[in-house]
Amino acid sequence: MHVLMVTSEATPYAKSGGLADAVSALSKALRRLGHDVRVVMPRYGSVPVEGLSRREGELVVEMGGSVERALVYKGLLPDSDLPVYLIDHPGFFGRDGLYGDKTEPDYADNPRRFAFLSRAAFRLCDALRWKPDVFHAHDWPGGFLPAYLRYAEPGYASSASLLSIHNLGYQGIYPKDAYPYFGLPWELFHGAGFEYYDSINALKAGIVCADGLSTVSPTYAREIQTPEFGCTLDGLLRSRGADLVGILNGVDAQDWDPAHDRYLPARYSTDDLRGKAACKAALQREFGLPEDPDKPLFGMVSRLTDQKGIGELFGPTYGCVEGMCRDMDLQFVVLGSGEPWCERAIVELAGRLPNFGSRIGYSEPAAHLIEAGSDFFMMPSRYEPCGLNQMYSLRYGTLPVAHRTGGLADTISNFDQDSGAGTGFLFDCLTPRAVYDTAGWAVWAFYNRPGQIEAMRKRAMAIDFSWAASAREYESLYAGLVS
Ligand code: ADP
Ligand code: GLC
Repeated sequence: MHVLMVTSEATPYAKSGGLADAVSALSKALRRLGHDVRVVMPRYGSVPVEGLSRREGELVVEMGGSVERALVYKGLLPDSDLPVYLIDHPGFFGRDGLYGDKTEPDYADNPRRFAFLSRAAFRLCDALRWKPDVFHAHDWPGGFLPAYLRYAEPGYASSASLLSIHNLGYQGIYPKDAYPYFGLPWELFHGAGFEYYDSINALKAGIVCADGLSTVSPTYAREIQTPEFGCTLDGLLRSRGADLVGILNGVDAQDWDPAHDRYLPARYSTDDLRGKAACKAALQREFGLPEDPDKPLFGMVSRLTDQKGIGELFGPTYGCVEGMCRDMDLQFVVLGSGEPWCERAIVELAGRLPNFGSRIGYSEPAAHLIEAGSDFFMMPSRYEPCGLNQMYSLRYGTLPVAHRTGGLADTISNFDQDSGAGTGFLFDCLTPRAVYDTAGWAVWAFYNRPGQIEAMRKRAMAIDFSWAASAREYESLYAGLVS
């Protein structure tokens, strides 16, 4: 099959979160199954052109009331022959931020930028003389594509569209004055699903117009059809429930494998966990904590946003981490960046607590060291469409302490202290108290059930989170859409 991924992020070119990893790894896994998969995305200012080749000619893209011109650069996903087409339009994408930056956290022209990207995807296919069987669009920036395919691109009538929802919390809601630029008639403002309380909602249009819908775990697929998790689109999602499937993301086995991880001071596998102890010592040193193999060490790597449960952990006066660190014989390290209040709270805690270490910022090596060197991984997300970090931690024998929601519920099984079964420690309702108690339970097991903990680690490491199985599910989803 011919598949075009239409995305705002793909590793290694541009990444703000798990979306980038998921798109690239899925593309490669589908390629390994023999499909002709290609990726189209913006060339942001932060993507250097060195190493890319420039395609001859330019794309001429007709938008409402204006004609845009763009160059196209081509790269390959690492270790593959899979082309990535980077749309170079300096006016829209020649800035470093993906969706915004420090001075303008959410670029006002985002609806124009990503409507343009979707329209440019068709012009790229014209130029390549290549017709996708499936346009696979991702998240709200991809929400325009299904609308164009259905209403404005008769030349592609035989192609199907699939919209994957990686996070329903971001919908692309903007004032409707951007609408004329999309080049669609006003009748379609309602008809194609853009209208949302008299504004534009790009994700909603995608949900209305796509031939198929998917999200990144079976539990999240059910949750988003409820008022609690539906972010106001649950009714619409229920109406399309028959076309919505949940397919769990995988883990890129090349990047995340404790037996071959180039970022680690020592490597390890289920047969021999000694390397994990060396990673723990290195992590304690790196984060300025006393080096002690016998202290349970909690690690966390996260965007610091409300979705990740940061209020319950670090909220001044009510967050539970301070109490955990004072009351329990443990250590805690966190790596992350995001909400300024939370960054400040973390730095302040690190100044006060001898058993709490932190790094604010983004660091691939530190993320790997935390996954490997910690005993437990803290992931109390309020909601989690899939979540990659808990899968990384399971592969590294680091047991998650997590909220039983979305992909966390689908990938972690709860400790049973009678039988010793399980791969992590789960709670059902996110409150500071629940996180505190569940962390306390993990600490208790660490000190009192070392044999069970070791067995859980090995069990977790043996789980198969490869992309191959998920790619086969997408393959049959595509097949159903084009038949
Ligand atoms: P989300 O996409 O919602 O942030 P995921 O768990 O799916 O959540 O993916 C998060 C990805 O971003 C993982 O690859 C994780 O390692 C990475 N990540 C997040 N914050 C940081 C950070 N501060 N440093 C390094 N990697 C990070
Ligand atoms: C989003 C979600 C995360 C998911 C990722 C990749 O960022 O928040 O749960 O793993 O997309 O699908």
